[in-house]
Amino acid sequence: MTTTTRERVATTRHFLMCRPEFFAVTYAINPWMDPAAGASAEKALAQWEALKAAYESLGHRVSVIDPIDGLPDMVFAANGALVVDAHVYGARFAHAERADEGPAYAKWFAELGLPIKEAEFTNEGEGDFLTLDEVILAGTGFRTDVAAHMEAQEFLGRPVVTLRLVDPRFYHLDTALFPLDGRNVAYYPGAFSEGSLRVLRRMFPDAIIASEEDALVLGLNAVSDGKNVIVNAEATGLSAELSRHGYSVIPVDLSELRKAGGGPKCCTLEIRL
Ligand code: ARG
Repeated sequence: MTTTTRERVATTRHFLMCRPEFFAVTYAINPWMDPAAGASAEKALAQWEALKAAYESLGHRVSVIDPIDGLPDMVFAANGALVVDAHVYGARFAHAERADEGPAYAKWFAELGLPIKEAEFTNEGEGDFLTLDEVILAGTGFRTDVAAHMEAQEFLGRPVVTLRLVDPRFYHLDTALFPLDGRNVAYYPGAFSEGSLRVLRRMFPDAIIASEEDALVLGLNAVSDGKNVIVNAEATGLSAELSRHGYSVIPVDLSELRKAGGGPKCCTLEIRL
């Protein structure tokens, strides 16, 4: 049997999303953002609704948090926290422009009654923490402080593996890598330091390797439920490779949100209860 014919199994997820009512590109905190390029909240909203509908049609549950006027990046819910085993590790944003999002997401989880750890160290939630069955992969280099990796490990009691990002276009781990299921990942090698690449090759000898072309349309900012993979439509090479490995590809168009440096995963925070 080859990986091509392997039966993939979906597990139902609970996601938190934030409607991009106040979406705009008014500042530039990553190389994708150009305030002069003009981004439309209306277009972003339509694309976001289609993403939400895609999750729901797969049987996933989507909760929403109210957007806040003046926080144009709040649509990127992945950055709002890291939730594992019903424990919430709060975000502490690297840039002042997004600082108020941390408490807003923490408040939403407090209302759910979940235990929350207010972070002492800078971290941007699931933007830089990706959870697999046995480990949490954690990015550093642009946003999340490596000290937050230890803080998350101590709070969540799961091993955290540090990976160093070296290309500013891939400023969050979730722009360069995504879990295919609880045991395997897809990634773009050019985003990582040489040592971190060796770690990835050792941990995931069967990983799907993406091209720079697919990475540059934020193809790695994808969401897999173990079988169905929601991925930016422009990532055609990666999509073909996913299909070849037995995954069901669900293409989405999030071109408007990409003007802020975000894709499907950025818009999606998983609630693991
Ligand atoms: N404009 C946002 C920022 O630079 C985009 C965040 C994308 N989120 C993500 N999980 N990669 O902070």
